[in-house]
Amino acid sequence: MKIQSIKGTSDIIVPEIKKWQYIEELTRELFKIYGYQEIRTPIIEHTELFTKSIGQSTDIVKKEMFTFKDRASRSITLRPEETASVARAYLESKMYKKSKLVKLYYIGPMFRSEKPQAGRMRQFHQIGVEAIGSYEAYLDAEIIDLMQEIVNEIGLKKTKLLLNTLGCLKDRLRYKEVLKSSLNKDLKRLCKDCKVRFKVNPLRILDCKNPQCQKIIEKLPTPSDYICSECKEHFDKVKDLLDNLGVNYTFHPHLVRGLDYYTKTTFELIHPDLGAKNAICAGGRYDNLISSFGGPEIGACGFAFGLERLLLAKEAEKIGFREKEKDAVYVATVNETSKTEAFKFLKELRTNHIKAYFDYEGKSLKAQMRQANKLNCKYVIVVGEDELRKKRLVLKDMQAHSQQEVNIKDLISTLNKNLSKV
Ligand code: HAM
Repeated sequence: MKIQSIKGTSDIIVPEIKKWQYIEELTRELFKIYGYQEIRTPIIEHTELFTKSIGQSTDIVKKEMFTFKDRASRSITLRPEETASVARAYLESKMYKKSKLVKLYYIGPMFRSEKPQAGRMRQFHQIGVEAIGSYEAYLDAEIIDLMQEIVNEIGLKKTKLLLNTLGCLKDRLRYKEVLKSSLNKDLKRLCKDCKVRFKVNPLRILDCKNPQCQKIIEKLPTPSDYICSECKEHFDKVKDLLDNLGVNYTFHPHLVRGLDYYTKTTFELIHPDLGAKNAICAGGRYDNLISSFGGPEIGACGFAFGLERLLLAKEAEKIGFREKEKDAVYVATVNETSKTEAFKFLKELRTNHIKAYFDYEGKSLKAQMRQANKLNCKYVIVVGEDELRKKRLVLKDMQAHSQQEVNIKDLISTLNKNLSKV
């Protein structure tokens, strides 16, 4: 049997991996500037973590989780997202005792059993942030600005930010009743799933993609029509702050997001060239999540980019990336005696942080030169018996097509002067 990768997963290999590393480095740099520290949580968690936080009636929990029983018959799930895991880790490590505001970021794989298509994978990757410890609108605005800054740094021009507010838990309960009475007359015309949603969690209906339901949704009252004065003030402040920062957004009153933990501000960053799966990043506030896990009452906000979709958007806008590559050196040899000595030079170069290649296939000197060219090496150091005896090595400049003899003891300093280390 030929073993192949699992449907909806993929290997990330050269040259693709370079684009991933580029985005990862760029975001890590920005996260540092905005005061975020990295967190790595386990890929497997107890299933209740996600059912409790994301919500029993959401598509993620109902249809998309990879859940299995471990050997002790406990229900385990491959994380479909990381907000819940970060909230759990925050409580488990009692981070609230060390600092009032905790800002964390993560980069890693998530798992959802969805039908694979472009931009929709079963194993996909998120780059996200979670800031726990503040109710202030400044935090929402800073997080949205950080998301926009990432997009700007990458060079994307066509993204559109959709913004909404769901209000607090009380507002949501009130809105739920309004929604139910508004939907009563259209109940029969709703799709099968929405009929269930109507009973379990009517807010989820706003997320339905069925065209017939969409027509009904368009005419429904929206959460922002029913928010309390405090939540309205919060949302107005977020919008003011975004205006001040020059962050463009479109108010989208029906945006509810596919996870139940959100309160107040919610947002999605969409890209017009990505078809149906057009959200490249999404997030919002979740002021009740920490307390729902038994922790303190504490405000929190975050977002997560889908890395695959971010790269698709970059491709769609034909944006290249600056490859930061170190100059490299090829250590070429002529026979076994010189090779043993050259092997020591190779080590010395690398100890001095110089990128260096070597021959492991017994290639002729000519073939090694060809290989050095192929690898785009700036220099070739020829280590022959004569050179070793004279303690002077030949340094060939592959770009200038010139060569010079260098005293062995000056080799590292000569290279250091001439190589770009990035
Ligand atoms: P989400 O909207 O479920 O939110 O996912 C965030 C992003 O992950 C999406 O906008 C999309 O780019 C990407 N994504 C989701 N599913 C897939 C998939 N099957 N294949 C490829 N990419 C996908 C969350 O996960 C929240 N935890 C975001 C958040 C953080 N809210 C607060 N903090």
